[in-house]
Amino acid sequence: MEKCKYCGKPYKLNNLAFLKALSPEIQEKLKYIPDCDCLEKEKQFTLEKLERERQQDCLKGKMRAYRDISIIDKKFINSTFTNADMTSNAMEVAKQYAEQFIQEGTAPVGLLFHGNVGTGKTFASACISNALTDANKTVMVLSIGLYINKLQREWAEAENNVLEHVKGCDLLVIDDLGVEKVTEFVKDKVFMLIDTRYRTGKPVIVTTNLELKNDGLTEKQIQEGLSIESRFGSRISDRLAEMCQVCAVTGKSWRGQDTRQKFVNFMRGNN
Ligand SMILES: Nc1ncnc2c1ncn2[C@@H]1O[C@H](COP(=O)(O)OP(=O)(O)O)[C@@H](O)[C@H]1O
Ligand SMILES: [Mg+2]
Ligand SMILES: [Zn+2]
Repeated sequence: MEKCKYCGKPYKLNNLAFLKALSPEIQEKLKYIPDCDCLEKEKQFTLEKLERERQQDCLKGKMRAYRDISIIDKKFINSTFTNADMTSNAMEVAKQYAEQFIQEGTAPVGLLFHGNVGTGKTFASACISNALTDANKTVMVLSIGLYINKLQREWAEAENNVLEHVKGCDLLVIDDLGVEKVTEFVKDKVFMLIDTRYRTGKPVIVTTNLELKNDGLTEKQIQEGLSIESRFGSRISDRLAEMCQVCAVTGKSWRGQDTRQKFVNFMRGNN
């Protein structure tokens, strides 16, 4: 007699009344039927699997949308904690932040990485972004300079579209807050961006070569606009102080090391 291919239980005699109404061949075929619910479970499992796959596809589409609208330097697409120099405090913080974020699904506060040019602020934020994206979190990265540029060229349409995504993503990264020339237009747009995110209560990571507040700066440094407060105004710096844990990125500049390595390789004839 036939057995269930899943649990091995022998089929039982089919004594459903309606069987008699069917043709003899079909009656013969349905004489024995499963005596367990493995088949139904299997069907249910398949349905659930299909549903999961459908949701995954949606998620991928959604993540792609955030990636597509992200304005970021291509060289950071493959930055990960595994292929990084992890000796700095900032990278340690970045890694733990990403792990905790993935475990909790979100974070109650963001990070503000500040430090000199080339110390690895963008790199650290890219490692976080990539770790989160791998864990199916939606991340949007906006380089402030490129964002402002885009707004000057495409105006309101671009802004509305970007701000919708700013509300939606799990993590927003604002890269390089500290662009050279801060006009009223730039101040306005940056405030819109940060305020839009602020209202969602979701985290933001900012990288900048400026201090956050004027505290500790000399009068001259304040004049020169070496803080977010002096350059963009306290509306913006106050919001950020509330949203972000400040993390100093120190150490020597990485910039130029690539260049030296390329030069060395070139001179050895193995570039
Ligand atoms: N922890 C690190 N491990 C490996 N490479 C790094 C690390 N930090 C920075 N880099 C490299 O150094 C370069 C400069 O870093 P970047 O993040 O652009 O500096 P910043 O944004 O602070 O100006 C990047 O191209 C990056 O590849
Ligand atoms: Mg940078
Ligand atoms: Zn069975």
